[in-house]
Amino acid sequence: MNDFQNWAGRIQQRTESALNHFLPPGDIAPEKLHAAMRYSVMGGGKRVRALLAHAAAELCDAEAEKTDAAACAVELIHAYSLVHDDMPCMDDDDLRRGKPSCHKQYDDATALLVGDALQSLAFQLLSQPGLHEDAASQLHMVHVLAVASGSRGMAGGQAIDLASVGQALNQSELEYMHIHKTGALIRAAALLGAHCADKVSTETLKAIDHYAQSMGLAFQVIDDILDTEADTATLGKTAGKDAESNKPTYVTILGLSRAKALAQELHEHAISQVSPYGEKAGRLIQLADFIMHRNH
Ligand code: IPE
Ligand code: IPE
Ligand code: MG
Ligand code: MG
Ligand code: MG
Repeated sequence: MNDFQNWAGRIQQRTESALNHFLPPGDIAPEKLHAAMRYSVMGGGKRVRALLAHAAAELCDAEAEKTDAAACAVELIHAYSLVHDDMPCMDDDDLRRGKPSCHKQYDDATALLVGDALQSLAFQLLSQPGLHEDAASQLHMVHVLAVASGSRGMAGGQAIDLASVGQALNQSELEYMHIHKTGALIRAAALLGAHCADKVSTETLKAIDHYAQSMGLAFQVIDDILDTEADTATLGKTAGKDAESNKPTYVTILGLSRAKALAQELHEHAISQVSPYGEKAGRLIQLADFIMHRNH
């Protein structure tokens, strides 16, 4: 195992145990909802958003212990977005993280409530007293996640995604959709990680933000590519679903090789934003490579 894999394994582990701690036990009422929340969050997922929060925190000298709650908050919003994304009224996907999607394992109403409850839990974590020594910074963090999750962020992007089925979007319309449905939360993950530090300069925040904006878009470009190139068993979700559902993607609009070239360009741009920070930016740079080379 190389140094990055070691680090990522450690962050993934601490994220699993923090999520396990924050989620209500499955045997307390309402049992079915709590069990379904755990089913949808635990034991699956690459935890890229938690890794981003911790990598940005490292650049800003924030301690990992102080970053866990923010990292988990973003992962909870992300898990909620996946539960709703898979529902029959959205992408109608039966498989998620190698298991039946939440609404298949439970039912539609439970999946709806799982999303609702995970979203609230995310804000419960982020607003817990004393999360940050400076109350104004903590309030700002709550604001960042709220904007990233809402109609001007992830939820808005999902609305555009649904309205775009069967449409021939141009590249800037597609970029707008991807920046919102996926980029917004990736960006929030990195910014929240940075804000976990006692103090962070505007210049550093800007560099991390630019890195995350590029990697957020690259992340969804790669997701579009994997949908066409990878198989269902590796992905843990149904391959070929975008074409089957007539979704405009970077692959349909640019073709595979131009989509790959674009992801590469975004990756290089992201790295250039943080490389002036030298060793401190090491994890963010390694994570960008991981996002580019992932197979699921
Ligand atoms: C999948 O996200 C959905 C998108 C926003 C593209 P991930 O690929 O991060 O999913 P998990 O968390 O690892 O399952
Ligand atoms: C998902 O986009 C974006 C969100 C869940 C917010 P996709 O619909 O492409 O994600 P997958 O491919 O189902 O994971
Ligand atoms: Mg979708
Ligand atoms: Mg989907
Ligand atoms: Mg996809």
